[in-house]
Amino acid sequence: MLQKFDPRNANLKIFIKDRLYPRDQAKVSVFDSVVQGGDAVWEGLRVYPEGIVCLDHHLNRLLASAKTLAFADIPSKEFVRSAIAQTLAANNMTDQTHIRLTLTRGEKITSGMDPRLNQEGSCLIVLAEFKPLVYDNASGIKVISSSQRRNGPEFLDSKIHHNNLLNNILAKIQANIAGKDAGLMLDQRGFVAELNGSNLFAVKGDTVYTPYAHACLPGITRATVIDLCGQNDIKIKEADLSLSEMYNADGVFATGTMGELTPVVEIDGRSIASDHELMRRVLTLFKTSIRYYCEPLI
Ligand SMILES: Cc1ncc(COP(=O)(O)O)c(C=O)c1O
Repeated sequence: MLQKFDPRNANLKIFIKDRLYPRDQAKVSVFDSVVQGGDAVWEGLRVYPEGIVCLDHHLNRLLASAKTLAFADIPSKEFVRSAIAQTLAANNMTDQTHIRLTLTRGEKITSGMDPRLNQEGSCLIVLAEFKPLVYDNASGIKVISSSQRRNGPEFLDSKIHHNNLLNNILAKIQANIAGKDAGLMLDQRGFVAELNGSNLFAVKGDTVYTPYAHACLPGITRATVIDLCGQNDIKIKEADLSLSEMYNADGVFATGTMGELTPVVEIDGRSIASDHELMRRVLTLFKTSIRYYCEPLI
């Protein structure tokens, strides 16, 4: 699945640091940390007329990631909320919108890794685009397992939602070459971690399983599914899952803000059914509840 240019996004207004810029002037300096070393943290948000899905969780994760990376000046949630509100208002966006929220360590006085070279303060970017769900959740996606392992805390903690996405991008390139939609990444022990850009769940019998969050982003959509299962007396377990267990699951689905809940209909050439009753129930529960997870900006 390759996203296409949406003409509604031709004249976007984008918030950078302290104000809005038209799309063609929305730029960061070549001295910015995100250019120099991928030294930034980010969130993807989805906008519905009722508000932004799980906004507070996303803001908490953004600020926590920045704290872990020892950013010197982390903006307040109020500042970020106000920047998002200004951006949505300027673009007249209330629905079918995805926001890429990035916080970079800011501009350096000269190129180099050392964060002490960052003397201009951090830089918040609010890029809101008209973007319906990125996958066709009716037909589902096909994936391959990648030779590229997802990093755990022994190298770079996957709980930091940082912009250093190269291992996931390499997995996506392998999927592209194989003509599939996403790369399934294992952890360093060979258990399933996640897809290159979304979390994974497997349904077997009366239970829904998801990998421990040791080597995957603890996704907010993942947390919502766990929450919904708990509220609806559906057995949900975090577990070490092998590829064989995924191939033989009754149903598999991916979760993420960009695509919400997407059936995985093939892994490494093995077909996975998408009509299992429990999986359908979870997909429907999510669809009917998502708007209750929306939070207005003010
Ligand atoms: C690697 C990875 N896994 C999973 C997710 C899904 O996370 P969320 O549900 O918070 O959007 C993302 C989204 O940014 C991601 O980049």
